[in-house]
Amino acid sequence: MKSTILAYAAISLLTTVTAKGTPLLAARASTTVTPVTVTGNGNAAFYQGSDRFYIRGVAYQPGGGTGAVTDPIADATSCKRDIVYFKKLGINTIRVYAVDNTADHDECMNALAEAGIYLILDTDTPKYSINRADPVPSYNSVYLQSVFATIDMFANYTNTLAFLSGNEVINNATNTNCAPYVKAVTRDMKEYIKSRSYRTIPVGYSAADVAENQQLMAEYMNCGTDEQRSDFYAINDYSWCDPSSYTISGWDQLVKNYTGYGIPLFMSEYGCITNTRTFGEVAALYSDEMTAVFSGGLVYEYSNEGNGYGDGDASTSNSSSTCPSQSDQWDVTTDTLPVIPSAAAKFMTTGAGTGPGLDGAGSQTSGDAETESGGSATASSSTSSDTASASSTKKSDAGVQVPPVMLKSLSPIGVVFVAMLGDRQYRRAIDIMYV
Ligand SMILES: *[C@@H]1O[C@H](CO)[C@@H](O)[C@H](O)[C@H]1NC(C)=O
Ligand SMILES: *[C@@H]1O[C@H](CO)[C@@H](O)[C@H](O)[C@H]1NC(C)=O
Ligand SMILES: *[C@@H]1O[C@H](CO)[C@@H](O)[C@H](O)[C@H]1NC(C)=O
Ligand SMILES: *[C@@H]1O[C@H](CO)[C@@H](O)[C@H](O)[C@H]1NC(C)=O
Repeated sequence: MKSTILAYAAISLLTTVTAKGTPLLAARASTTVTPVTVTGNGNAAFYQGSDRFYIRGVAYQPGGGTGAVTDPIADATSCKRDIVYFKKLGINTIRVYAVDNTADHDECMNALAEAGIYLILDTDTPKYSINRADPVPSYNSVYLQSVFATIDMFANYTNTLAFLSGNEVINNATNTNCAPYVKAVTRDMKEYIKSRSYRTIPVGYSAADVAENQQLMAEYMNCGTDEQRSDFYAINDYSWCDPSSYTISGWDQLVKNYTGYGIPLFMSEYGCITNTRTFGEVAALYSDEMTAVFSGGLVYEYSNEGNGYGDGDASTSNSSSTCPSQSDQWDVTTDTLPVIPSAAAKFMTTGAGTGPGLDGAGSQTSGDAETESGGSATASSSTSSDTASASSTKKSDAGVQVPPVMLKSLSPIGVVFVAMLGDRQYRRAIDIMYV
């Protein structure tokens, strides 16, 4: 059955609002929604109760990519302003790339829950992340403390859908040596959630659109013991550039390649704007051709996808993959992961305590004998000359740059958007259309 999909555009604001909440004592989830799960029925898909859950989402980080990162969900005013539009868009999920783990998120998270909207949250921040140019010393207890403190802040909200343990840490053919560290962090986050007796919030990684290793990373994140395997895998994909189609974009091959994959899969970003963006891919992503393999996705960025259609069988496999062997494309020598730094292991029993927020001193060079992994680091030495750290505010460092484009056509909702913006400055807008 074909239903009408409304896909329209969006505007990423340059806002001067920097209000932050008061320091948080305990996250209070006053509004509850049915948590989304991945476990329990043996299928590689998300569920909301017994119903299949498709992510109909948008990446949301107003001001992201402009240098200083602002936590968009610590600011209840802008959050509530935008929820009005999220509801009109019919989305059920937002992805936020960086938050201040000392700020209060109750008001925004509860307002999102009231609107039936879930959060997929990146736990890294620009200062607290794996350094792709030198991963070994960046996997340390100072970093993990920040990650765990973020988990503490969000674990109690029923609309926390998932945590992303990293975004595009591997962003080129040359830095797959970061993979053991990304996987170790994912494992540690899962262990922390379990040790702290939180709800089983899914943890996974968001992989860059790098043809040479995106699928190798998928296999790697789903191999090994259940403790080491991710709960899901997410890909950023910019291969559908309108005008396109299921076959022209290569999405048919993507579906073929991931058929039978044993954990849920979704697009953590999509939206090529090489040509005029007409959101042709939205209909494809929620069609029967794709829903057996993909659980929806997130438009990049602050823009819409509409109602999914088609029930779509989920993969009935939940089995692990075989770890990829070392090759020219895969610079990892053994399947053994780095052991968690001993200074971080104690957080499993004591809790992480207060996080450093966005203004902390950072963690990427904090590794030393005390804080760094004493275990078997398995990556071979990096040959990358890339000195950028793993930024959690996508698009500022790598991948598709999003140039400013002007609104060309306006749907009624688009008019509302522009009217709302009034005299505000906006950074970019994307075409509006109905599919
Ligand atoms: C979680 O939320 C519930 C109410 O929904 C509250 O009773 C409980 O204290 C909260 N726990 C934490 C750790 O904030
Ligand atoms: C796989 O699915 C079966 C049920 O079909 C379940 O018993 C088992 O725990 C699942 N394994 C994992 C790793 O989720
Ligand atoms: C699918 O897999 C083939 C064979 O490994 C690879 O060459 C191709 O790039 C993949 N295509 C996509 C879209 O993932
Ligand atoms: C990215 O990989 C290509 C090979 O595919 C290599 O030529 C290039 O130097 C790499 N870039 C960086 C920054 O490492």
